[in-house]
Amino acid sequence: MNVVSSRPSRSTHLNGSAAIAHPPAHPPTIIETTDLRKVYRTGFWLKAAPPSLKQCSLEIYKGETFGLLGPNGAGKTTLLKLLLGIIRPTAGSATLMGEPAGNNETKARIGYLPENPYFYDYLTGWEFLSYTAGRFGIRGEAKKRRIAQLLDLVQLDRQSATKKQMRRYSKGMLQRVGMAQALINDPEIVFLDEPMSGLDPTGRYQVREIILSLKAQGKTLFFNSHVLSDVEMICDRIAILDQGEIICLGEIKQLLGQPDHYIVRGHGGSLDILDRWLQDITFNAGYWQGILYENPFEFMATARLMNAHIAKLEVAKPTLEEFFIAQIGQRRAAAEQAAAERAQAKKSTQKKRSLGKLSPQ
Ligand SMILES: Nc1ncnc2c1ncn2[C@@H]1O[C@H](COP(=O)(O)OP(=O)(O)O)[C@@H](O)[C@H]1O
Ligand SMILES: [Mg+2]
Repeated sequence: MNVVSSRPSRSTHLNGSAAIAHPPAHPPTIIETTDLRKVYRTGFWLKAAPPSLKQCSLEIYKGETFGLLGPNGAGKTTLLKLLLGIIRPTAGSATLMGEPAGNNETKARIGYLPENPYFYDYLTGWEFLSYTAGRFGIRGEAKKRRIAQLLDLVQLDRQSATKKQMRRYSKGMLQRVGMAQALINDPEIVFLDEPMSGLDPTGRYQVREIILSLKAQGKTLFFNSHVLSDVEMICDRIAILDQGEIICLGEIKQLLGQPDHYIVRGHGGSLDILDRWLQDITFNAGYWQGILYENPFEFMATARLMNAHIAKLEVAKPTLEEFFIAQIGQRRAAAEQAAAERAQAKKSTQKKRSLGKLSPQ
């Protein structure tokens, strides 16, 4: 059963324009992009590829945890790199803490965990963190204290950190060192590109805990992820990016909307009556299950009258994953339909032309 597609979508949109579900009041804006666009030029002739990011206008508020979701190749890393000033936009602008992205002062106040962090793998974790601290001018005792503090935060044991070269680290350990280096300068904004990727459930849980502890310290977190269940647990707001376009933006609660139907499971009763109340009825191991759009109390009263036993009656709330799949799916379907209509229109124009040529003057 597809819970999402059977419900009216609220703050969502289709047909290209983004659905904006703004919270009524919010803290000051800390990251702002205006019509940000990126077209990579590749190959010997520097041919322009299709835009990787199209007219992206976003506002991120101070202290929020913002999740950027999207299928592979949607443009998530591109947006992050533009915000960090690692790549330059083709058009549009981005500011962080009121300053242009990429500015040296802002760089000192942000942290970044890259998607595929390149580590000097012959160094130990401690040496690598020590090198990173040096880049921010943190030295001596302050550096030692900071590294020890971060190792505790990311739960990396000192023995491994000081003795083991990073090429002998597991993916989880590398991700932890990556997280520690992103936080070395006590940044105000932390950018994380796929922080859960390649981690086992315990590793993911620990990264979630770190993110939540940073959030509790009032930091702003901006992260890309495709692990939607994690995003659902920790984010205040999300945006879905598809083919370089923000197709949906808002608070998770608002985007998922209020549930308006129930899933009911039970046995016994009259099939004729059940059929009048429930939709999409299925049968399994002596139980029936269906979707109820009517008043649940009235349904329970009817069930009692027809001697049906209700085993489960629960609110059908779509998960972020279902919502995400429905959004991307609807967009793809709309694009396919538009392409089919264009092809049909072209075909009929060609037909008219050839008939015109053939018909006697
Ligand atoms: N350095 C680059 N040169 C050319 N094309 C790139 C480059 N980086 C990314 N792209 C293209 O831009 C699009 C978006 O990529 P990316 O931002 O990495 O997506 P995501 O992080 O959502 O998976 C993809 O089509 C990708 O091939
Ligand atoms: Mg990416």
